[in-house]
Amino acid sequence: ETTRVAIIGAGPAGITLANLLQRNGIETVVLEVRGRSYVEERQRAGVLDHYGGRIFEEAGLAGEVLAGVPDQTLLEIRTDGEPRFLDLRALSGGRSSRMVPQQLLVRRLLATYLAGGGDLRFEALDVALHDLDGDTPRVTYRDPDGTEHEIACAYVAGCDGFHGVSRRSIPEEALATYTFDHGIGWYTVLADSPAPSYPLFAVSEHGLAAHFPRGPRASRFYLQYRAGDDPRKWPDEDTWQQLRLRLGSPDLAGTITDREIVEMRSFVVEPMEFGRLFLVGDAAHIITPLGAKGMNLAVSDAHMLAEALIGAERGGDRSALAGYSAACLRRTWDYQEFSRWFSEMLHDAGDDTDAGPFRRRLARARMDRLFSSPPAAAAFADMMAGTTY
Ligand code: APR
Repeated sequence: ETTRVAIIGAGPAGITLANLLQRNGIETVVLEVRGRSYVEERQRAGVLDHYGGRIFEEAGLAGEVLAGVPDQTLLEIRTDGEPRFLDLRALSGGRSSRMVPQQLLVRRLLATYLAGGGDLRFEALDVALHDLDGDTPRVTYRDPDGTEHEIACAYVAGCDGFHGVSRRSIPEEALATYTFDHGIGWYTVLADSPAPSYPLFAVSEHGLAAHFPRGPRASRFYLQYRAGDDPRKWPDEDTWQQLRLRLGSPDLAGTITDREIVEMRSFVVEPMEFGRLFLVGDAAHIITPLGAKGMNLAVSDAHMLAEALIGAERGGDRSALAGYSAACLRRTWDYQEFSRWFSEMLHDAGDDTDAGPFRRRLARARMDRLFSSPPAAAAFADMMAGTTY
């Protein structure tokens, strides 16, 4: 078998890339190790920033992907119980992000790709990449029944997340790896509990908590926890009690459907390519959740790679492909810095766990500046909307 671009992984990165290439008549095969329902039901991110939304609009996919999705207008940072709002839409000159749960985005993109005749193979096991540094790389995998397959292609897109096979197929000496542990404990639960009107962070001496919509009837909550604690052992009622206390919402209740420790860890590899293999999204970088840039980086990498591949396939112009890694890394590092900045501001601003009084005062000053200096607030809203350089 042959194709032009073999895409490994059907998460936000892979399925975005597949659609963008399909729209431009470039033949693709997507290989996904999991089944369709796993991919479609995986609940993680929830915000598509303005820049990400533009990518789908410009590709003519707004109707398919963004229909009925509400804008993110306000962000609340509740400080010691006092509500404070940032009007992100106004502060960014109308560049609203959208509240779109990842599973909705992925489900719609999968359906669109398949309706367009896309070739997506679920349960592709033991995917292996070969001859990446030659002109004709190959991808092999087997079906659950044991049948072996081989696909020859011109390019491989490694969209298989942090634990995927793509990055591991690159010789170690060809990559520089950067990792950073933020030393913060974060616990997240999903619950069948009414969504807040606006995404909400609450800073207080009780520790950070956050409450985000995941569609109209579901919520994702985050809670900071102290080093050494294991919140997965908390009875759900204790989690609710902490949420009510920290968020200052005495009526919060619901059924918790998922509990996870969030690793507050950053990771970047450079470069995001090796021969004919290009890494996209979490395969190349992991970012902390503050600022909600993980899924957006996956979408923007996919867009950059799609544009570069279209140039190479249509006119034989390889310059954009040669610049792919540097262009994506620029955005990645910019967003890593933003997420770290955001995280220090919220985590050190309220709790009395690790930060110490001096850092705490600095974090409060950083936060207060957002509510007193219009240029500072505008810079923040610009990052939330996604920068265009
Ligand atoms: N072979 C084929 N597919 C694989 C393999 C493999 N060896 N390993 C992993 N996959 C699949 C996974 O099952 C998953 O569907 O690749 C996909 C990777 O998806 P993600 O991990 O979601 O990565 P990405 O598409 O880059 O999106 C990352 O989305 O959920 C947000 O916060 C998250 O920021 C992150 C972003």
